[in-house]
Amino acid sequence: MKKVAIFTSGGDAPGMNACIRAAVRGAIYHNVEIYGIYRGYDGMIEGDFEKLESRSVSNIIQKGGTILKSARSMEFKTPEGRKKAYEQLSKEGIEGIIAIGGDGTFTGAKIFFEEYGIPTVGAPGTIDNDLYGTDYTIGFDTAVNTALEAIDKIRDTADSHNRLFFIEVMGRDSGYIAIRSGIGGGAELVMVPETETSINEVISTLQEGWNRKKTSSIVVVAEGDEEGNAMEIAEKVKKQVHMKDIKVSILGHIQRGGTPSAQDRILASQLGLAALEGLLEGQKNVMVGIVNNEIVYTSFEDCISKTKELNQNLIRMVKILSV
Ligand code: F6P
Repeated sequence: MKKVAIFTSGGDAPGMNACIRAAVRGAIYHNVEIYGIYRGYDGMIEGDFEKLESRSVSNIIQKGGTILKSARSMEFKTPEGRKKAYEQLSKEGIEGIIAIGGDGTFTGAKIFFEEYGIPTVGAPGTIDNDLYGTDYTIGFDTAVNTALEAIDKIRDTADSHNRLFFIEVMGRDSGYIAIRSGIGGGAELVMVPETETSINEVISTLQEGWNRKKTSSIVVVAEGDEEGNAMEIAEKVKKQVHMKDIKVSILGHIQRGGTPSAQDRILASQLGLAALEGLLEGQKNVMVGIVNNEIVYTSFEDCISKTKELNQNLIRMVKILSV
């Protein structure tokens, strides 16, 4: 393999740049030409490619976002869109692809591989940490730290005013960001999609705290929780408790930006190089991940269809520690 391409797709995640850098430097080390594709699958369809050199990725390891930009392409979901993408790649003589993204990206990559057979290796880049086949995804650690910083600040004001706060964090259908930031931030309760927490349970947990003379409380809500979003949950709770000073904070996209943590930079560097080297060694239709400190390659099929379980002991721990 002498010419490969790399792109980022879906929601951006801190550390994507470190991953691009590692793959580019790895390609140069192995005497392989590497092209950056801008704006994910949209750029692939439009032929928005640029040859990357070692200096193209200087001074980006510490930067959030992605220098290759990102998009959630609707056109790539169509056979016509994928045909155009294949034609652009063929015209450029691309023999292998590195796709950095999440489950949407890998769903597209799997279909594209099945249709056109260009070897593709994925690297898990999403703040959600919801991919089977890797213990952690690129961007997750930074997002948790960002959420944690916000929770700490909200706790200060919650405490001063004796308030109850519902803080909504991202994660789509996964509760990983919520559980980690909730534990780290000393939340009274964490609501995640993986475990049902009824409004009655929320109220009884808060009530127990107030009975024990707690004056302020933090409930971290994963955006995908079954009971609704933080605003809806707060409204339901408000109707049934004496505490009327209830606030809602939705952390939103700040969780996607910012300087990647040390952990994310290192993880991204390892995965970027392993994606490139895996591709050169014949891996295809797989995502590279790290499980128990070992580099592993897992089929796109498993990554998108299998569930990465949330450790239920962590949920139990939140309950015990909020006594
Ligand atoms: O997948 C990353 C993520 O930030 C999710 O946590 C969130 O649900 C979604 O993307 C938001 O997407 P968008 O940036 O398109 O609003």
